[in-house]
Amino acid sequence: MDEIRIGIIGCGRIADMAYVGYRAIPGVRIAAVCDTDEKTALRRRAEWGADNHYIDYRKLLEDPAVDAVEILTPHTSHVQISLDAIAAGKHLALQKPMTIDWEGAQRLVNAAASATTICKLTENYIFYPPIRFAARIIQEGYIGSPSSISIKLIAGGKGGWTVPPSAWAWRLKEFAEGRGMQTFDHGHHLWSTARYLLGPIEKVSAWIGTTASVIDSPAAIMWKYMDREAFGLCEYVYSQEMEIPSRYYANDEWIQVSGSAGLVKINRCTGNLLEGPSVSLYSRNEWRHFRIPSDWKLGFLGSTWNFIKAIRGETEPRLSFPQAMEILSIDLAIARSAQTGREVRLEPDGSMLSPAAAYFRKLSELREVRAARKMLVKTEGAEASEDASRLAVQLTREIPSRLSAPALAHDDIEIGLELSGATFSGGAKLMSIAIRDGAVYVDEDKLPASPSLVIKTSAGVWAGILSGRQAIESAYLHGKLRLTGPVETALNLKKLFRL
Ligand SMILES: NC(=O)c1ccc[n+]([C@@H]2O[C@H](COP(=O)([O-])OP(=O)(O)OC[C@H]3O[C@@H](n4cnc5c(N)ncnc54)[C@H](O)[C@@H]3O)[C@@H](O)[C@H]2O)c1
Repeated sequence: MDEIRIGIIGCGRIADMAYVGYRAIPGVRIAAVCDTDEKTALRRRAEWGADNHYIDYRKLLEDPAVDAVEILTPHTSHVQISLDAIAAGKHLALQKPMTIDWEGAQRLVNAAASATTICKLTENYIFYPPIRFAARIIQEGYIGSPSSISIKLIAGGKGGWTVPPSAWAWRLKEFAEGRGMQTFDHGHHLWSTARYLLGPIEKVSAWIGTTASVIDSPAAIMWKYMDREAFGLCEYVYSQEMEIPSRYYANDEWIQVSGSAGLVKINRCTGNLLEGPSVSLYSRNEWRHFRIPSDWKLGFLGSTWNFIKAIRGETEPRLSFPQAMEILSIDLAIARSAQTGREVRLEPDGSMLSPAAAYFRKLSELREVRAARKMLVKTEGAEASEDASRLAVQLTREIPSRLSAPALAHDDIEIGLELSGATFSGGAKLMSIAIRDGAVYVDEDKLPASPSLVIKTSAGVWAGILSGRQAIESAYLHGKLRLTGPVETALNLKKLFRL
Protein backbone atom coordinates (compact mmCIF):
# COMPACT_ATOMS: atom_id res chain seq x y z
CA MET A 1 0.00 0.00 0.00
CA ASP A 2 1.12 3.58 -0.68
CA GLU A 3 2.81 5.57 2.04
CA ILE A 4 0.41 7.35 4.41
CA ARG A 5 1.44 10.96 4.97
CA ILE A 6 0.35 12.48 8.27
CA GLY A 7 -0.23 16.11 9.19
CA ILE A 8 -0.07 16.94 12.91
CA ILE A 9 -2.28 19.88 13.93
CA GLY A 10 -1.31 21.15 17.38
CA CYS A 11 2.25 20.27 18.39
CA GLY A 12 2.08 20.73 22.18
CA ARG A 13 2.68 18.40 25.12
CA ILE A 14 0.83 15.28 24.04
CA ALA A 15 1.99 15.50 20.43
CA ASP A 16 5.11 13.68 21.68
CA MET A 17 2.98 10.55 22.01
CA ALA A 18 1.45 10.96 18.55
CA TYR A 19 4.96 11.06 17.17
CA VAL A 20 5.93 7.90 19.09
CA GLY A 21 2.93 6.15 17.51
CA TYR A 22 3.40 7.22 13.88
CA ARG A 23 7.17 6.74 13.97
CA ALA A 24 6.67 3.07 14.87
CA ILE A 25 4.59 2.14 11.82
CA PRO A 26 6.21 1.14 8.52
CA GLY A 27 4.90 3.06 5.53
CA VAL A 28 3.78 6.04 7.62
CA ARG A 29 5.50 9.41 7.79
CA ILE A 30 4.82 12.77 9.41
CA ALA A 31 4.79 14.98 6.33
CA ALA A 32 3.61 18.30 7.77
CA VAL A 33 3.04 19.99 11.11
CA CYS A 34 0.92 22.94 12.14
CA ASP A 35 0.86 25.04 15.29
CA THR A 36 -0.42 28.56 15.80
CA ASP A 37 2.83 29.15 17.63
CA GLU A 38 5.36 29.28 14.81
CA LYS A 39 8.36 28.53 17.02
CA THR A 40 6.68 25.31 18.12
CA ALA A 41 5.82 24.40 14.53
CA LEU A 42 9.42 25.00 13.40
CA ARG A 43 10.87 23.02 16.30
CA ARG A 44 8.58 20.05 15.64
CA ARG A 45 9.26 20.13 11.91
CA ALA A 46 12.98 19.80 12.64
CA GLU A 47 12.52 17.16 15.39
CA TRP A 48 10.21 14.97 13.34
CA GLY A 49 11.77 15.52 9.90
CA ALA A 50 8.54 16.88 8.37
CA ASP A 51 8.62 18.48 4.92
CA ASN A 52 6.40 21.45 5.72
CA HIS A 53 5.11 23.53 8.59
CA TYR A 54 2.09 25.81 8.87
CA ILE A 55 0.63 28.20 11.41
CA ASP A 56 -2.86 28.07 9.86
CA TYR A 57 -4.37 24.58 9.88
CA ARG A 58 -6.47 25.39 6.78
CA LYS A 59 -3.23 25.67 4.79
CA LEU A 60 -2.15 22.26 6.01
CA LEU A 61 -5.54 20.88 4.94
CA GLU A 62 -4.93 22.28 1.44
CA ASP A 63 -1.59 20.44 1.24
CA PRO A 64 -2.05 17.55 -1.26
CA ALA A 65 0.97 15.83 0.31
CA VAL A 66 -1.06 15.15 3.49
CA ASP A 67 -3.44 12.15 3.52
CA ALA A 68 -4.49 12.09 7.15
CA VAL A 69 -4.40 14.43 10.11
CA GLU A 70 -4.14 14.04 13.86
CA ILE A 71 -5.71 16.95 15.75
CA LEU A 72 -4.13 17.76 19.13
CA THR A 73 -5.43 21.22 19.91
CA PRO A 74 -7.47 22.62 22.83
CA HIS A 75 -10.99 21.21 23.08
CA THR A 76 -12.96 24.25 21.91
CA SER A 77 -11.24 24.08 18.50
CA HIS A 78 -11.97 20.38 17.88
CA VAL A 79 -15.28 20.74 16.04
CA GLN A 80 -14.26 23.35 13.48
CA ILE A 81 -10.89 21.81 12.66
CA SER A 82 -12.46 18.35 12.32
CA LEU A 83 -15.29 19.58 10.09
CA ASP A 84 -12.76 21.34 7.87
CA ALA A 85 -10.57 18.21 7.75
CA ILE A 86 -13.55 16.08 6.69
CA ALA A 87 -14.50 18.67 4.06
CA ALA A 88 -10.90 18.62 2.76
CA GLY A 89 -11.13 14.81 2.32
CA LYS A 90 -8.47 13.97 4.93
CA HIS A 91 -8.61 10.95 7.22
CA LEU A 92 -8.95 12.20 10.73
CA ALA A 93 -7.86 11.16 14.24
CA LEU A 94 -9.10 13.65 16.82
CA GLN A 95 -7.70 13.65 20.35
CA LYS A 96 -10.17 13.09 23.17
CA PRO A 97 -12.58 14.48 24.26
CA MET A 98 -14.49 15.02 21.05
CA THR A 99 -15.54 18.50 22.10
CA ILE A 100 -17.13 20.31 25.04
CA ASP A 101 -20.86 19.94 24.38
CA TRP A 102 -23.51 17.71 22.94
CA GLU A 103 -24.39 19.94 19.97
CA GLY A 104 -20.80 20.04 18.71
CA ALA A 105 -20.53 16.25 19.05
CA GLN A 106 -23.76 15.80 17.10
CA ARG A 107 -22.36 17.93 14.24
CA LEU A 108 -19.24 15.77 14.15
CA VAL A 109 -21.22 12.52 14.17
CA ASN A 110 -23.37 13.80 11.30
CA ALA A 111 -20.34 14.92 9.29
CA ALA A 112 -18.56 11.59 9.89
CA ALA A 113 -21.64 9.65 8.77
CA SER A 114 -21.37 11.11 5.28
CA ALA A 115 -17.55 11.29 5.15
CA THR A 116 -15.66 9.14 2.66
CA THR A 117 -12.59 9.16 4.91
CA ILE A 118 -11.89 7.54 8.29
CA CYS A 119 -12.98 9.58 11.32
CA LYS A 120 -11.75 8.38 14.67
CA LEU A 121 -11.27 9.67 18.17
CA THR A 122 -7.89 8.96 19.74
CA GLU A 123 -8.49 7.30 23.12
CA ASN A 124 -5.32 5.56 24.22
CA TYR A 125 -6.65 3.81 27.38
CA ILE A 126 -8.73 1.27 25.47
CA PHE A 127 -5.52 0.21 23.71
CA TYR A 128 -3.40 0.07 26.88
CA PRO A 129 -2.22 -3.58 27.14
CA PRO A 130 -3.07 -4.20 30.84
CA ILE A 131 -6.62 -2.88 30.27
CA ARG A 132 -7.03 -5.02 27.17
CA PHE A 133 -5.70 -8.05 29.02
CA ALA A 134 -8.15 -7.46 31.89
CA ALA A 135 -10.99 -7.19 29.35
CA ARG A 136 -10.06 -10.63 28.03
CA ILE A 137 -9.94 -12.08 31.53
CA ILE A 138 -13.44 -10.72 32.18
CA GLN A 139 -14.82 -11.91 28.83
CA GLU A 140 -13.41 -15.39 29.36
CA GLY A 141 -15.29 -15.66 32.65
CA TYR A 142 -12.36 -15.86 35.09
CA ILE A 143 -14.07 -13.51 37.55
CA GLY A 144 -17.60 -14.78 36.89
CA SER A 145 -20.35 -12.24 36.49
CA PRO A 146 -18.91 -8.73 37.14
CA SER A 147 -20.76 -6.55 39.63
CA SER A 148 -18.38 -3.75 40.49
CA ILE A 149 -15.55 -1.67 39.12
CA SER A 150 -13.52 0.76 41.16
CA ILE A 151 -11.03 3.20 39.74
CA LYS A 152 -8.65 5.28 41.79
CA LEU A 153 -6.90 8.21 40.21
CA ILE A 154 -4.11 9.61 42.27
CA ALA A 155 -2.38 12.79 41.10
CA GLY A 156 0.76 14.15 42.69
CA GLY A 157 2.01 17.70 43.01
CA LYS A 158 5.46 16.52 41.89
CA GLY A 159 6.96 14.09 39.42
CA GLY A 160 6.43 13.24 35.79
CA TRP A 161 7.29 15.27 32.74
CA THR A 162 7.17 19.02 32.45
CA VAL A 163 3.82 20.48 31.40
CA PRO A 164 4.32 23.92 29.84
CA PRO A 165 2.29 26.84 31.28
CA SER A 166 0.57 27.23 27.88
CA ALA A 167 -0.99 23.76 28.29
CA TRP A 168 -2.39 24.78 31.71
CA ALA A 169 -3.73 28.14 30.49
CA TRP A 170 -6.61 26.87 28.33
CA ARG A 171 -7.40 24.14 30.87
CA LEU A 172 -7.85 26.73 33.61
CA LYS A 173 -10.39 28.48 31.41
CA GLU A 174 -12.20 25.16 30.97
CA PHE A 175 -12.15 24.62 34.72
CA ALA A 176 -13.81 28.03 35.21
CA GLU A 177 -16.54 26.88 32.79
CA GLY A 178 -17.20 23.71 34.80
CA ARG A 179 -15.08 21.18 32.92
CA GLY A 180 -12.28 20.17 35.23
CA MET A 181 -8.94 18.86 34.02
CA GLN A 182 -9.18 15.77 36.23
CA THR A 183 -12.81 14.72 35.96
CA PHE A 184 -13.71 16.01 32.47
CA ASP A 185 -10.43 16.08 30.53
CA HIS A 186 -8.62 13.13 32.10
CA GLY A 187 -11.94 11.60 33.10
CA HIS A 188 -12.57 10.73 29.44
CA HIS A 189 -9.97 7.97 29.75
CA LEU A 190 -11.57 6.56 32.87
CA TRP A 191 -15.12 6.54 31.49
CA SER A 192 -13.83 4.99 28.25
CA THR A 193 -12.17 2.28 30.33
CA ALA A 194 -15.28 1.73 32.46
CA ARG A 195 -17.39 1.49 29.28
CA TYR A 196 -14.89 -0.77 27.52
CA LEU A 197 -14.64 -3.22 30.43
CA LEU A 198 -18.29 -3.57 31.47
CA GLY A 199 -20.58 -2.01 28.86
CA PRO A 200 -22.92 0.97 28.55
CA ILE A 201 -23.67 3.21 31.51
CA GLU A 202 -27.20 4.12 32.56
CA LYS A 203 -26.73 6.90 35.12
CA VAL A 204 -24.15 8.75 37.15
CA SER A 205 -23.86 10.62 40.42
CA ALA A 206 -20.89 12.83 41.23
CA TRP A 207 -19.38 14.94 43.96
CA ILE A 208 -16.48 17.06 42.74
CA GLY A 209 -14.43 19.20 45.13
CA THR A 210 -11.63 21.68 44.50
CA THR A 211 -8.02 21.92 45.63
CA ALA A 212 -5.91 25.06 45.35
CA SER A 213 -8.88 26.75 43.59
CA VAL A 214 -8.02 25.11 40.25
CA ILE A 215 -7.94 21.33 40.55
CA ASP A 216 -11.25 19.43 40.49
CA SER A 217 -10.24 17.00 43.19
CA PRO A 218 -11.02 15.29 45.55
CA ALA A 219 -13.97 13.75 43.75
CA ALA A 220 -16.17 10.69 44.09
CA ILE A 221 -18.13 9.56 41.07
CA MET A 222 -20.54 6.65 40.88
CA TRP A 223 -22.34 5.06 37.99
CA LYS A 224 -24.71 2.25 37.25
CA TYR A 225 -24.39 0.01 34.23
CA MET A 226 -27.26 -0.32 31.82
CA ASP A 227 -27.29 -4.02 30.97
CA ARG A 228 -26.23 -5.59 34.21
CA GLU A 229 -26.59 -5.22 37.95
CA ALA A 230 -23.17 -3.63 38.32
CA PHE A 231 -21.90 -0.36 39.72
CA GLY A 232 -18.79 1.75 39.30
CA LEU A 233 -17.00 4.05 41.67
CA CYS A 234 -14.17 6.41 40.84
CA GLU A 235 -12.20 8.15 43.51
CA TYR A 236 -9.95 11.10 42.69
CA VAL A 237 -7.28 12.41 45.00
CA TYR A 238 -4.74 15.16 44.49
CA SER A 239 -1.77 14.79 46.84
CA GLN A 240 -0.01 18.08 46.47
CA GLU A 241 3.12 17.11 48.39
CA MET A 242 3.46 13.66 46.93
CA GLU A 243 5.79 12.76 44.07
CA ILE A 244 4.44 10.20 41.60
CA PRO A 245 7.08 8.09 39.82
CA SER A 246 6.07 8.60 36.18
CA ARG A 247 7.69 9.22 32.82
CA TYR A 248 4.55 11.09 31.76
CA TYR A 249 2.01 13.03 33.83
CA ALA A 250 2.33 12.90 37.64
CA ASN A 251 -0.72 10.63 37.86
CA ASP A 252 -1.45 6.99 38.26
CA GLU A 253 -4.59 4.87 38.16
CA TRP A 254 -5.57 1.59 39.76
CA ILE A 255 -8.57 -0.27 38.46
CA GLN A 256 -10.28 -3.25 40.05
CA VAL A 257 -13.19 -5.27 38.68
CA SER A 258 -14.93 -7.75 40.98
CA GLY A 259 -17.24 -10.51 39.94
CA SER A 260 -19.12 -13.48 41.31
CA ALA A 261 -16.04 -15.72 41.03
CA GLY A 262 -13.01 -13.49 41.43
CA LEU A 263 -11.44 -10.13 40.80
CA VAL A 264 -8.92 -8.56 38.46
CA LYS A 265 -6.69 -5.59 39.29
CA ILE A 266 -4.86 -3.30 36.92
CA ASN A 267 -2.03 -1.95 39.00
CA ARG A 268 -0.90 1.04 36.95
CA CYS A 269 -1.64 3.21 33.92
CA THR A 270 0.01 6.61 33.56
CA GLY A 271 2.70 6.19 36.22
CA ASN A 272 4.51 3.59 38.24
CA LEU A 273 3.35 4.14 41.78
CA LEU A 274 2.90 0.46 42.57
CA GLU A 275 5.84 -1.70 41.71
CA GLY A 276 5.44 -5.30 40.58
CA PRO A 277 3.13 -6.98 38.07
CA SER A 278 0.78 -4.80 36.07
CA VAL A 279 -2.24 -7.13 36.30
CA SER A 280 -3.30 -9.41 39.16
CA LEU A 281 -6.11 -11.96 39.08
CA TYR A 282 -7.79 -13.72 41.97
CA SER A 283 -9.77 -16.60 40.55
CA ARG A 284 -10.38 -20.24 41.49
CA ASN A 285 -9.01 -19.58 44.99
CA GLU A 286 -5.57 -18.37 43.94
CA TRP A 287 -3.74 -15.21 42.96
CA ARG A 288 -2.00 -15.02 39.63
CA HIS A 289 0.15 -12.07 38.62
CA PHE A 290 0.97 -10.98 35.07
CA ARG A 291 3.77 -8.76 33.86
CA ILE A 292 1.87 -7.41 30.86
CA PRO A 293 3.86 -4.57 29.20
CA SER A 294 2.57 -1.46 30.92
CA ASP A 295 4.38 1.61 29.61
CA TRP A 296 1.64 4.25 29.19
CA LYS A 297 2.86 5.09 25.69
CA LEU A 298 1.75 1.65 24.45
CA GLY A 299 -1.85 2.85 24.46
CA PHE A 300 -0.90 5.57 21.97
CA LEU A 301 0.90 3.06 19.80
CA GLY A 302 -2.21 0.87 19.77
CA SER A 303 -4.52 3.73 18.95
CA THR A 304 -2.26 4.96 16.14
CA TRP A 305 -2.06 1.45 14.69
CA ASN A 306 -5.82 1.25 14.78
CA PHE A 307 -6.07 4.52 12.80
CA ILE A 308 -3.61 3.40 10.15
CA LYS A 309 -5.18 -0.06 9.82
CA ALA A 310 -8.61 1.58 9.48
CA ILE A 311 -7.26 3.79 6.68
CA ARG A 312 -5.85 0.67 5.01
CA GLY A 313 -9.28 -0.97 5.31
CA GLU A 314 -8.06 -3.65 7.73
CA THR A 315 -10.19 -2.76 10.76
CA GLU A 316 -12.86 -0.43 12.14
CA PRO A 317 -11.77 2.84 13.77
CA ARG A 318 -12.07 2.95 17.55
CA LEU A 319 -13.42 5.08 19.01
CA SER A 320 -15.79 5.79 16.15
CA PHE A 321 -17.45 9.20 16.41
CA PRO A 322 -20.74 7.75 17.73
CA GLN A 323 -18.75 5.80 20.35
CA ALA A 324 -16.86 8.98 21.23
CA MET A 325 -20.13 10.85 21.63
CA GLU A 326 -21.31 8.26 24.13
CA ILE A 327 -18.18 8.82 26.24
CA LEU A 328 -18.59 12.58 25.99
CA SER A 329 -22.15 12.23 27.26
CA ILE A 330 -20.81 10.43 30.37
CA ASP A 331 -18.32 13.26 30.86
CA LEU A 332 -21.08 15.86 30.55
CA ALA A 333 -23.49 13.92 32.78
CA ILE A 334 -20.84 13.77 35.51
CA ALA A 335 -20.25 17.53 35.32
CA ARG A 336 -24.00 18.13 35.43
CA SER A 337 -24.52 15.78 38.37
CA ALA A 338 -21.81 17.54 40.37
CA GLN A 339 -23.32 20.94 39.55
CA THR A 340 -26.93 19.99 40.37
CA GLY A 341 -26.31 17.56 43.20
CA ARG A 342 -28.59 15.04 41.45
CA GLU A 343 -28.09 11.76 39.67
CA VAL A 344 -28.16 12.14 35.88
CA ARG A 345 -29.43 9.50 33.50
CA LEU A 346 -27.88 8.88 30.11
CA GLU A 347 -30.38 8.10 27.41
CA PRO A 348 -29.65 5.24 24.96
CA ASP A 349 -28.81 7.83 22.29
CA GLY A 350 -26.23 9.29 24.68
CA SER A 351 -28.22 12.41 25.53
CA MET A 352 -29.03 13.24 29.13
CA LEU A 353 -32.25 13.58 30.99
CA SER A 354 -32.60 16.71 33.09
CA PRO A 355 -33.05 16.00 36.81
CA ALA A 356 -36.76 16.89 36.54
CA ALA A 357 -37.32 14.62 33.54
CA ALA A 358 -35.36 11.85 35.27
CA TYR A 359 -37.57 12.26 38.34
CA PHE A 360 -40.78 11.87 36.33
CA ARG A 361 -39.30 8.92 34.45
CA LYS A 362 -38.47 7.28 37.78
CA LEU A 363 -42.01 7.85 39.03
CA SER A 364 -43.54 6.22 35.97
CA GLU A 365 -41.07 3.29 36.22
CA LEU A 366 -42.05 2.82 39.85
CA ARG A 367 -45.71 2.75 38.88
CA GLU A 368 -44.99 0.09 36.27
CA VAL A 369 -42.95 -1.97 38.72
CA ARG A 370 -45.70 -1.73 41.35
CA ALA A 371 -48.34 -2.77 38.83
CA ALA A 372 -46.21 -5.72 37.66
CA ARG A 373 -45.48 -6.72 41.26
CA LYS A 374 -49.18 -6.63 42.16
CA MET A 375 -49.97 -8.80 39.18
CA LEU A 376 -47.26 -11.31 40.12
CA VAL A 377 -48.30 -11.52 43.76
CA LYS A 378 -51.77 -12.27 42.50
CA THR A 379 -50.43 -14.98 40.23
CA GLU A 380 -48.00 -16.86 42.48
CA GLY A 381 -48.15 -20.62 42.29
CA ALA A 382 -48.69 -23.07 39.50
CA GLU A 383 -52.28 -22.05 38.80
CA ALA A 384 -51.55 -18.80 37.04
CA SER A 385 -54.31 -16.25 36.53
CA GLU A 386 -55.36 -14.87 33.19
CA ASP A 387 -53.20 -11.77 33.80
CA ALA A 388 -50.07 -13.83 34.45
CA SER A 389 -50.71 -16.09 31.46
CA ARG A 390 -51.10 -13.10 29.18
CA LEU A 391 -48.00 -11.43 30.66
CA ALA A 392 -45.89 -14.61 30.32
CA VAL A 393 -46.82 -15.03 26.65
CA GLN A 394 -46.40 -11.33 25.91
CA LEU A 395 -42.94 -11.17 27.56
CA THR A 396 -41.88 -14.33 25.69
CA ARG A 397 -42.89 -12.74 22.39
CA GLU A 398 -40.73 -9.74 23.32
CA ILE A 399 -37.63 -11.87 23.90
CA PRO A 400 -36.06 -10.89 20.53
CA SER A 401 -35.95 -7.26 21.75
CA ARG A 402 -33.82 -8.34 24.73
CA LEU A 403 -31.16 -9.66 22.45
CA SER A 404 -27.68 -9.16 23.87
CA ALA A 405 -24.35 -9.05 22.07
CA PRO A 406 -23.45 -12.61 23.28
CA ALA A 407 -26.76 -13.85 21.79
CA LEU A 408 -25.87 -12.41 18.41
CA ALA A 409 -22.62 -14.36 18.43
CA HIS A 410 -24.16 -17.51 19.92
CA ASP A 411 -24.28 -20.80 18.06
CA ASP A 412 -27.70 -21.80 16.79
CA ILE A 413 -29.90 -23.14 19.61
CA GLU A 414 -33.54 -24.21 19.99
CA ILE A 415 -35.37 -23.97 23.30
CA GLY A 416 -38.81 -25.36 24.07
CA LEU A 417 -41.10 -23.74 26.62
CA GLU A 418 -44.06 -25.46 28.29
CA LEU A 419 -46.07 -23.01 30.40
CA SER A 420 -48.80 -24.27 32.66
CA GLY A 421 -51.80 -22.07 33.43
CA ALA A 422 -55.47 -22.79 33.99
CA THR A 423 -56.46 -20.18 31.44
CA PHE A 424 -54.51 -21.82 28.60
CA SER A 425 -56.59 -24.19 26.52
CA GLY A 426 -55.56 -27.67 27.63
CA GLY A 427 -53.85 -26.12 30.69
CA ALA A 428 -50.57 -25.44 28.91
CA LYS A 429 -49.04 -23.17 26.30
CA LEU A 430 -46.18 -24.40 24.13
CA MET A 431 -43.66 -21.95 22.71
CA SER A 432 -40.25 -22.20 21.14
CA ILE A 433 -37.35 -19.80 21.12
CA ALA A 434 -34.58 -20.22 18.57
CA ILE A 435 -31.32 -18.41 17.88
CA ARG A 436 -30.49 -18.87 14.23
CA ASP A 437 -27.71 -17.04 12.38
CA GLY A 438 -27.50 -14.32 15.00
CA ALA A 439 -31.26 -13.63 15.12
CA VAL A 440 -33.91 -14.74 17.60
CA TYR A 441 -37.26 -16.27 16.61
CA VAL A 442 -40.23 -17.06 18.83
CA ASP A 443 -42.86 -19.55 17.64
CA GLU A 444 -46.09 -20.44 19.35
CA ASP A 445 -48.15 -23.56 19.97
CA LYS A 446 -45.38 -26.02 19.26
CA LEU A 447 -42.07 -27.20 20.68
CA PRO A 448 -38.96 -27.37 18.47
CA ALA A 449 -38.39 -30.73 16.74
CA SER A 450 -35.08 -31.38 18.55
CA PRO A 451 -34.65 -28.77 21.28
CA SER A 452 -31.35 -28.29 23.14
CA LEU A 453 -33.39 -27.49 26.22
CA VAL A 454 -37.03 -27.69 27.35
CA ILE A 455 -38.22 -25.49 30.21
CA LYS A 456 -41.39 -26.42 32.08
CA THR A 457 -42.83 -23.93 34.54
CA SER A 458 -45.97 -22.04 35.42
CA ALA A 459 -46.93 -18.89 33.54
CA GLY A 460 -46.67 -16.95 36.83
CA VAL A 461 -43.08 -18.05 37.50
CA TRP A 462 -42.05 -17.47 33.89
CA ALA A 463 -43.59 -13.99 33.90
CA GLY A 464 -41.67 -13.34 37.14
CA ILE A 465 -38.39 -14.40 35.52
CA LEU A 466 -38.92 -12.33 32.39
CA SER A 467 -39.94 -9.24 34.32
CA GLY A 468 -36.92 -9.46 36.60
CA ARG A 469 -38.83 -10.35 39.79
CA GLN A 470 -37.53 -13.88 40.08
CA ALA A 471 -34.10 -15.37 39.36
CA ILE A 472 -34.11 -18.35 37.02
CA GLU A 473 -31.65 -20.16 39.34
CA SER A 474 -33.87 -19.81 42.41
CA ALA A 475 -36.95 -20.96 40.47
CA TYR A 476 -34.96 -24.05 39.45
CA LEU A 477 -33.57 -24.71 42.94
CA HIS A 478 -37.03 -24.36 44.51
CA GLY A 479 -38.45 -26.84 42.06
CA LYS A 480 -40.68 -24.24 40.39
CA LEU A 481 -38.99 -24.74 37.05
CA ARG A 482 -37.97 -28.04 35.48
CA LEU A 483 -35.44 -28.55 32.76
CA THR A 484 -34.81 -31.22 30.19
CA GLY A 485 -31.32 -30.55 28.93
CA PRO A 486 -28.12 -29.08 30.38
CA VAL A 487 -28.48 -26.67 33.35
CA GLU A 488 -25.57 -24.60 31.92
CA THR A 489 -27.62 -23.90 28.80
CA ALA A 490 -30.46 -22.64 31.01
CA LEU A 491 -28.15 -20.43 33.06
CA ASN A 492 -26.65 -19.11 29.85
CA LEU A 493 -30.11 -17.79 28.95
CA LYS A 494 -29.62 -15.07 31.53
CA LYS A 495 -26.72 -13.64 29.58
CA LEU A 496 -28.33 -14.17 26.19
CA PHE A 497 -31.66 -12.59 26.95
CA ARG A 498 -30.79 -10.31 29.88
CA LEU A 499 -33.07 -12.27 32.25
N1 LIG B 1 -4.59 10.99 25.28
C1 LIG B 1 -4.06 11.59 26.33
O1 LIG B 1 -3.66 10.94 27.26
C2 LIG B 1 -3.98 13.09 26.34
C3 LIG B 1 -3.12 13.72 27.25
C4 LIG B 1 -3.05 15.10 27.20
C5 LIG B 1 -3.80 15.82 26.30
N2 LIG B 1 -4.64 15.18 25.46
C6 LIG B 1 -5.49 15.91 24.51
O2 LIG B 1 -4.68 16.42 23.46
C7 LIG B 1 -5.12 17.71 23.08
C8 LIG B 1 -3.98 18.70 23.28
O3 LIG B 1 -3.55 18.70 24.61
P1 LIG B 1 -2.08 19.16 25.04
O4 LIG B 1 -1.94 18.81 26.47
O5 LIG B 1 -1.06 18.65 24.09
O6 LIG B 1 -2.21 20.74 24.91
P2 LIG B 1 -1.06 21.79 24.60
O7 LIG B 1 -1.58 23.10 25.03
O8 LIG B 1 0.23 21.32 25.17
O9 LIG B 1 -0.93 21.73 23.01
C9 LIG B 1 -1.86 22.28 22.15
C10 LIG B 1 -1.10 22.90 20.99
O10 LIG B 1 -2.06 23.30 20.01
C11 LIG B 1 -1.66 24.56 19.49
N3 LIG B 1 -2.86 25.17 18.94
C12 LIG B 1 -3.89 25.77 19.59
N4 LIG B 1 -4.85 26.13 18.72
C13 LIG B 1 -4.43 25.73 17.49
C14 LIG B 1 -4.98 25.82 16.18
N5 LIG B 1 -6.16 26.39 15.97
N6 LIG B 1 -4.28 25.34 15.15
C15 LIG B 1 -3.07 24.76 15.36
N7 LIG B 1 -2.49 24.66 16.56
C16 LIG B 1 -3.17 25.13 17.63
C17 LIG B 1 -1.05 25.27 20.68
O11 LIG B 1 -0.20 26.32 20.28
C18 LIG B 1 -0.32 24.15 21.39
O12 LIG B 1 1.02 24.02 20.94
C19 LIG B 1 -6.37 17.95 23.92
O13 LIG B 1 -7.49 17.49 23.22
C20 LIG B 1 -6.15 17.10 25.14
O14 LIG B 1 -7.31 16.71 25.84
C21 LIG B 1 -4.73 13.82 25.45
